[in-house]
Amino acid sequence: MTILVTGAAGFIGSHLADLLIAHGQHVLAMDTFDNQYSPLQKNSNIQHLLTNKNFELIVGDIRNKELVEKVFARNQIEKVVHLAANAGVRYSIENPAECADVNINGTLRILEASRKNKIKQFVFASSSSVYGNPTVFPTKETDNTETQVSPYATTKKCGEIICKNYNYNYGIPVTCLRFFTSYGPRNRSNMAVYKFGEAIFEQKPLQLFGNGDAKRDYTYVKDVAESVLLALDKDLGFEVLNIGSHCPVTLTEVIRALEKFIGKKAIIEHKPYPSCDPLETFADVSKAKKTLHWEPKTSIQEGLKAFVQWYAEKENTEKDQ
Ligand SMILES: NC(=O)c1ccc[n+]([C@@H]2O[C@H](COP(=O)([O-])OP(=O)(O)OC[C@H]3O[C@@H](n4cnc5c(N)ncnc54)[C@H](O)[C@@H]3O)[C@@H](O)[C@H]2O)c1
Repeated sequence: MTILVTGAAGFIGSHLADLLIAHGQHVLAMDTFDNQYSPLQKNSNIQHLLTNKNFELIVGDIRNKELVEKVFARNQIEKVVHLAANAGVRYSIENPAECADVNINGTLRILEASRKNKIKQFVFASSSSVYGNPTVFPTKETDNTETQVSPYATTKKCGEIICKNYNYNYGIPVTCLRFFTSYGPRNRSNMAVYKFGEAIFEQKPLQLFGNGDAKRDYTYVKDVAESVLLALDKDLGFEVLNIGSHCPVTLTEVIRALEKFIGKKAIIEHKPYPSCDPLETFADVSKAKKTLHWEPKTSIQEGLKAFVQWYAEKENTEKDQ
């Protein structure tokens, strides 16, 4: 069975590709290696897969109608995981139209091809950001998603609505997974955990937004990949599921743990807290547990230790080259 994974060279996508291949699946990866962060990092995320007979890479844009149609026509794609996106919240504030084009029009393009090719399962990467600045904790899937605080978040809410419509009108089974901040090895370099780690390793000023009290439900990337694997195997009609660790921690706690594993102190520089970021995220994951039998397995300490190990190895390899 061939599974199309859009955005497969990215942070979550590359871990998912590893997991699918370990489960004997054939992965058709589609990625444009965009410039949201270094394309070289994306290259190294999937280097080890390029010689695997169960992995095939198509470098291209999900908005390219001709290419997408060709990809579906030439391959026996049974299931789709749609991860490709403009994924940066702050980038979307500066580039709202680009974000909407990739995240809404690109999603439509992949859904259209999935409809025409009678795809058996579609998993959409949604986000905890659809809850805006939540006030109910832990936040349930049925809680308010009326207001988002960034263009990025609004595109993710639109993506869910379009997915729901494709399920209603065309019967495509779609599961939207609302990922809560993912972290771990191959972390996106434009996310806080990477930036904090880099600043501590290099003993450069670490820009901390707010006083460090903001909380995130950090979710280990391999646990996130596992949720996608399970979602691919279950036809739930149309469903929305939170994927989080159910264990929020403050930014200060993350910095303290990174300092411990790196063995250096952070040089903190305070910055005002951005209005496009929620102050707290905390997932109620009871629905994912019940429907997918998914559980977050990795503690923040274990996950940050694995991130630090990966980062140190990456730096050593780059120095040797
Ligand atoms: N990482 C998180 O904490 C998090 C949280 C919530 C939701 N998500 C969502 O999960 C998905 C994966 O996130 P990630 O952290 O791995 O991000 P990522 O940026 O590492 O991966 C996204 C990939 O999509 C590719 N891409 C972008 N535009 C494309 C296009 N037009 N055509 C083809 N490929 C394109 C990029 O090159 C990149 O490799 C995204 O949809 C993101 O919005 C991530």
